[in-house]
Amino acid sequence: MIWDTHAHLDDLVYTEDFQEVVARLLSAGISRVTNVGYDLSSSERSVKLAQDYDFIHAAIGIHPHNAEEATDETWAKLLLLAKQPKVLAWGEIGLDYYRDLSPRLIQKEVFVQQISLANEAGLPIVIHNRDAHQDVLEIIKAHPPKYGGVFHCYSGSWEMAKIVLNLGFYLSFAGPVTYKNARHTVEVAAQAPLDRILVETDSPYLTPEPRRGKRNEPLYVREVVKKLAEIKNLSFEDIASQTMRNAEIIFRRAE
Ligand code: NI
Repeated sequence: MIWDTHAHLDDLVYTEDFQEVVARLLSAGISRVTNVGYDLSSSERSVKLAQDYDFIHAAIGIHPHNAEEATDETWAKLLLLAKQPKVLAWGEIGLDYYRDLSPRLIQKEVFVQQISLANEAGLPIVIHNRDAHQDVLEIIKAHPPKYGGVFHCYSGSWEMAKIVLNLGFYLSFAGPVTYKNARHTVEVAAQAPLDRILVETDSPYLTPEPRRGKRNEPLYVREVVKKLAEIKNLSFEDIASQTMRNAEIIFRRAE
């Protein structure tokens, strides 16, 4: 049993063969998928998928790329969505200084605002951080999420990982840990405590080896589990069950 803690199955690339994608993941032992929103409509689609499929849970929030679009009405609607029982987290939220699609000042304001909304809703947060390590650290230290959080597709150094682990966060690993140039991520995965790691695909993005570059789907979370097992010198089943337990703890509303 594996929990893919971060996917975007509402993406249009699955329109043609959604049922086959679902059949493949279920028959391969992926028993839960968290579908993650990045704006208001994808958050609504995530909640709808969670209502329609037992194995899907939802996260809702505004991605830093879309920070500029958020209004008071957006927050009111997200707070209402957050009351749905299968919404387990507020995300993905954070800072993206790689693509800079919204002005940095607005990204920061919207990140801080959503930490307080997550606190109000009683949910942990899912953090997207790209090339913004220092500012992300400053914000989570100044505005600690009450119900904890996850660094999705963790991409920082082991130095930064130690800080965020000490602050109580979980580290989620995705396809990039399988890439040939993943030296830093492999080092982090090797050192991270077993009870603080999660696995994800970020489907349809970040496809693990050996399919890098093609469309991703939750089935391939198995490649991430396999790689972590190899790095930590444990069995596939050990990593699958431990990451499932960890996800059940951080995404408490699951139970
Ligand atoms: Ni994502």
